[in-house]
Parts: sequence; C-alpha cells; structure tokens
Amino acid sequence: MKTQLEQIKAAAAAALHGAQDLKQVDALRVQYLGKKGELTGILKQMGKLSAEERPVMGQLANEVRAQIEADIARRQNELAAAAMEAQLKAETIDVTMPGSKPAMGKAHPLTTVLDEVKEIFLGMGFELGAGPEVELDYYNFEALNIPKDHPARDTQDTFYISDNVLLRTQTSPVQIRFMENNKPPIRMISPGRVYRSDAVDATHSPLFHQIEGLVVDKGVTMADLKGTLELFAKRLYGEDVQVRFRPHHFPFTEPSAEMDAMCFACHGEGCRLCKGEGWIEILGAGMVHPKVLQNCGVDPEVYSGFAFGMGLERIVMRRYNIDDLRLFYENDLRFLNQF
Ligand code: PHE
Repeated sequence: MKTQLEQIKAAAAAALHGAQDLKQVDALRVQYLGKKGELTGILKQMGKLSAEERPVMGQLANEVRAQIEADIARRQNELAAAAMEAQLKAETIDVTMPGSKPAMGKAHPLTTVLDEVKEIFLGMGFELGAGPEVELDYYNFEALNIPKDHPARDTQDTFYISDNVLLRTQTSPVQIRFMENNKPPIRMISPGRVYRSDAVDATHSPLFHQIEGLVVDKGVTMADLKGTLELFAKRLYGEDVQVRFRPHHFPFTEPSAEMDAMCFACHGEGCRLCKGEGWIEILGAGMVHPKVLQNCGVDPEVYSGFAFGMGLERIVMRRYNIDDLRLFYENDLRFLNQF
C-alpha cells in the first residue's frame, strides 16, 4: 500500500506538471482526490490493515493528499500567471508606433459664413427669428403687400402645395410672423432655406438660403438702414470695402434699394467676377412699407423700420471665388476640404 501511495503521489505530480490549462488541472484533481478518485480508492482498503499499520498508512495517505493539493494549487497559480502575462503581452500599446490620424470633419462653407453673419448682427444687438419653410400664401405674399394678381408673384417661381400653402420663396414672411409676436423695438435676423422652381445651373438652385433682417422702432430712418448695412459689409469683407446703394423696387419696402460692394477682384475696374460691372450686388433692402406694418398691427404713424434680405450662397461664392453654386450641394470632399 505504501508503494501504491508513493506511486500515486509521483504520478499526480508528473501529470500536474504537464497540465496545460486550468481545465486539465481540475480533471486531475477529480482523478486523484475525487470521491471515485485513486487516493480515495486506496483509503477504502484501510479496513483490511492491522491496527498497528492503520495509523501509519493513514498518516502517509494524508501526507500524499496534502502534497497533491499543494501541487494542484501551485500549478493553478503558475497557469494563471502565465495567462496574465500572455494577456498583458497581447494588449501592450507600443507608444513608439506612429498614431493613426482620425479624419476630422469641418464646417460647410455655407455654415462658416452664416455663423460670421450671425455673429456680426448679434453683436449689434439683433436677435434670431424663425418661421416655417412650408408657409401660407398670406405670409409669403399677401401680408407683404403682394396681392394675388401682383406681377411680383411671376418673378418668384413658386412651388405651390395647395392654393394657400407653398414653399416659401423668401425669408420675408418671417418679418410678418415676428411682428405679430413681438412688440417694437425689434431688431431681428432670420436665416433659412427658401425655394423657387428654377432649373439647376451654375447660379440657380431650387433650394437656397436667405438671411432676412428687420428693425422696427420709433424714428428709424433710411440713414439707420445705410449705417447698419455699411457696418455689416465692413465687418464681413474688411474695413476698406466700398459699398453703394441703388434705387430698386420691392412691394414690401418703400423706398427700396439694393446694396452693392465694390468688386474685390478688380476694385471697380470691371472683370469676369463682377461681369464687367465693377460692383457686386450684396442684398435688397428698404424702409418697411406702411401697409406691411399695418398688416401686423404696428401703427405706421408711430413706428418705422427697415428690412433687408440677402442670399447666403452669393455671399459665400464671392467670399471664396466659387463660380458654381452646385458645388455647395454635391458633398464632394475634394471641394469641401478646401475650406
Ligand atoms: N425678399 C427679397 C428677395 O427675396 C429681399 C428683401 C428683403 C428686400 C427685405 C427688401 C427687404 O429678393
């Protein structure tokens, strides 16, 4: 029996030494120490021994069990340490490797310039207004002094949804909505999308962006209009920009004007960019028509105001010398990455 015990001890030690993972170690534990294990099998024969031999063998058996348990624990520790080491090795970050650069997104040129325009007007004390792109005929035309049979309706090729509902052709309806909901003094700009049924080409798109402006207070004059818009042009294009106002006509302003900036490419000489004019149109503007004020419940005897509207795409095209408006909507990264 003694030799059997010694053999079991040696065999268990050898088997454990060769065990490659914790599962194998556990199987060996069952094989040697389990209820049906080899050591247990021997202990069951203890009854056959003499009274003198029994305690001696008992002690030896206990020593063998303790030894096997110790071998198991040691092998478990070794395997756990090896696994940890392998994991650490696999997860090591080599700080000397060149990093991979994540692709950075950037703002669309329309967004960049719009942010600048907003910044300029917010700095002058304006607030932001907004209105729906699907608009009522009343706000887009009627309230702006453009009745149903007015010829100005022909110049804005309107997408109608029904007789009274349309896609707004300008941001001017926001003037009306803002005056309905706010009492003067009013200083508001409202950027947004507008729609016209135009065929797509280098300078036309059925969807584009305008920025509307409205100022209403007691004693507002054409001088305020000129001063505000000149200051805006200087902030946007630089201190030495030259601007001029030309008479124009809009049904909702009287008098009306268009503001031009001197061409930055040729400084008034006339070139391809300004189509030989020397000047580039920047925006439409005028004193708010008394009828428009009346339509919004503002007394034109007490209050006066000015309004302006500009096309964002045009301003951005002039800023960056872009000659085709379609580039803004094609999402070609070769184009967008230049800004
Ligand atoms: N809504 C006009 C347009 O689309 C621009 C404008 C706005 C003119 C405000 C005068 C005052 O052409």
